[in-house]
Amino acid sequence: MNFNEELRQRTERIEAMLTGFLPREEGFQRRVVEAMNYSVTGGGKRLRPMLMAESAALFGDPATLAPLPYFMAALEMIHNYSLVHDDLPAMDDDEYRRGRKTTHVVYGEGMAVLAGDGLLNYAFETAAAAFGGAVTTEDYRRIAASLQILASKAGIYGMIGGQCADLEAEEAGGDMTDELLLFIHAHKTAALIQAAMTIGATLAGAASGEIAQLERCAYNIGIAFQIQDDVLDVTGSQAVLGKPIGSDEKNHKLTYVALHGLEESRREVERLSQEAAGILASFPERNLFLEELVRQLIYREK
Ligand code: IPE
Ligand code: IPE
Ligand code: MG
Ligand code: MG
Ligand code: MG
Repeated sequence: MNFNEELRQRTERIEAMLTGFLPREEGFQRRVVEAMNYSVTGGGKRLRPMLMAESAALFGDPATLAPLPYFMAALEMIHNYSLVHDDLPAMDDDEYRRGRKTTHVVYGEGMAVLAGDGLLNYAFETAAAAFGGAVTTEDYRRIAASLQILASKAGIYGMIGGQCADLEAEEAGGDMTDELLLFIHAHKTAALIQAAMTIGATLAGAASGEIAQLERCAYNIGIAFQIQDDVLDVTGSQAVLGKPIGSDEKNHKLTYVALHGLEESRREVERLSQEAAGILASFPERNLFLEELVRQLIYREK
């Protein structure tokens, strides 16, 4: 298996699928739709929809799962909404993402707020449209369960909860405990990754024990992913990352790196990722691409 080639092909397929779900830029609301699409078509790794499809593949052929693309697109919309708002002057105040000006710089702050709100709502419109292809009671049950996961992992007990604690910790300054830092990472970042993997499994008909195992696996991936994001905020370059480095320091953000240093942070990324890959390897149906993806994330530079 040539991992990089497989990754490229999968990313391309996800990009094409996403394009099909974008709202049309027309009518008096055209501007907000343009701002939404500016964010969603800006590139990025497409990690969350990829993890969703690859987790589904642990339990069967994802190509046969009609609701899957609706949820892949919905989750990527929610991820993009979180970034549009995260970059606002009222939050991290960043002007670049994925090598381009951020949404509020191009469209203005008010429109960026609306674009985020628009993406969040459009995500649920998109996911709910999956009911249109449901036939059996089991189809309806899986889609309903997936909607519930999506709503809760994006909400106050998920991503928004983490962003709240992140913002408050930064404003308060000073005391950051490991417990608080782990809460922030687990919610602002791991929650959407957990949504990706557990929705993939749910739509593919996994048993509740298997879904719980994937949730634990996704937790590790998510914490590692945010620690690495914080490492790259120190050691990366804007040219490669596409977003400014030093954003965390600028905002007096106490990160894993600030708390434990670069070396221990790197070791922790590796430990958590290997543990996650180990969980994946314990499933009867192996997904070698997914296992390799989790390991490759340890060394990511963007
Ligand atoms: C950035 O997520 C926000 C974090 C949770 C660290 P990604 O690094 O997945 O962003 P894109 O979509 O690839 O740009
Ligand atoms: C953001 O974490 C996580 C979100 C929920 C958006 P960061 O603020 O570190 O993400 P980047 O570095 O701006 O992508
Ligand atoms: Mg932030
Ligand atoms: Mg940020
Ligand atoms: Mg960051």
